[in-house]
Amino acid sequence: MEFKPSRFSVAPMMDWTDRHCRAFHRCFTKHALLYTEMVTADAILHGDQHRLLSYNDTEHPVGLQLGGSDPEKLALAAKLGASYGYDEINLNCGCPSDRVQSGAFGACLMKDPVRVSDCVSAMNEAVSDIPITVKCRIGVDDDDPYKRLFEFVDEVSKSGCRHFVVHARKAWLKGLSAKQNRSIPPLDYDLVAKLKAERPDLEIVLNGGLGTLETALEHLSRFDGVMIGRAAYHKPELLGLVDRKVFGADTPVVEAFEALQTYRPYMVAQLEAGVHLHGMTRHMIGCFSGKGGARQWRRTLSEKAPGAKGVESIAIFDEALESVAQQLVVAEAEQHVG
Ligand SMILES: Cc1cc2nc3c(=O)[nH]c(=O)nc-3n(C[C@H](O)[C@H](O)[C@H](O)COP(=O)(O)O)c2cc1C
Repeated sequence: MEFKPSRFSVAPMMDWTDRHCRAFHRCFTKHALLYTEMVTADAILHGDQHRLLSYNDTEHPVGLQLGGSDPEKLALAAKLGASYGYDEINLNCGCPSDRVQSGAFGACLMKDPVRVSDCVSAMNEAVSDIPITVKCRIGVDDDDPYKRLFEFVDEVSKSGCRHFVVHARKAWLKGLSAKQNRSIPPLDYDLVAKLKAERPDLEIVLNGGLGTLETALEHLSRFDGVMIGRAAYHKPELLGLVDRKVFGADTPVVEAFEALQTYRPYMVAQLEAGVHLHGMTRHMIGCFSGKGGARQWRRTLSEKAPGAKGVESIAIFDEALESVAQQLVVAEAEQHVG
């Protein structure tokens, strides 16, 4: 059975979906598509390329998200990305932060679809064997989103881009922080569904405000795929159901406890390589939420992991996991008695 990874993806999230986070998420799901944080073309061309582009082999399928607005630089960065073996290169046309606006890319690019088309054409020319995709909003500021989204997608698809991830809300470039821009502008899923219905040849992935796997599954009848960001990060357990429920794989649901045990050897290897414990444990704080032991889990990790390093610091993780295991045993015993 062939699985199309873009049917379910975890959103690119700056400071969050770093390589340790992706390796952790991979312990819950084999098939979901994972994305890097946005990396600017300039950073790749002038910075520490290897640090920015390297990842762990287990992360596949994994997409590299680029930021930028210069076709030549993006083409070079995409080529480098492809040489690292990424499965997809995605161009960010949705990020509204001030830093990004001053570089004239991210969501501002919604207003300049011809430039985006030029960028994607150049990237497509530089990279022939993996897809170049675009992540966008439905418009910016006082745009009429019905006009803007269609104009944007029609122009950009002239570049050969067949795959769009649409965060179904506008970005307000003035007056809202990046964080507010992820919740205040209203969601319009129907507009994105209209785009899919009227451009059936394009692959349209819905993103924004999908808080549970069940909600995301409902949308799969109208879209080619769904992308979840914050809910997947804060409750990684939902990823443990993805292979079965989204991809129809004949595999058991992966519980947090099991995923964490799978992740442990990776942690040990990273600690040996000099990575600090907190760089990995910070991505797992949301595990077990709503279950007995969650508070102790969070407390142990957030009090003891920052500053801890060296392979022996794995004992902190083990202690936190053991405390959850004990709570689970108590809860089960209580259930039997009850
Ligand atoms: C901490 C954080 C960082 C983000 N960084 C990026 C980014 O680098 N590139 C991007 O396209 N979107 C970024 N986003 C937006 C997400 O990819 C996604 O579009 C948004 O959170 C809406 O999806 P959600 O409601 O499922 O979280 C970020 C979101 C968060 C919460």
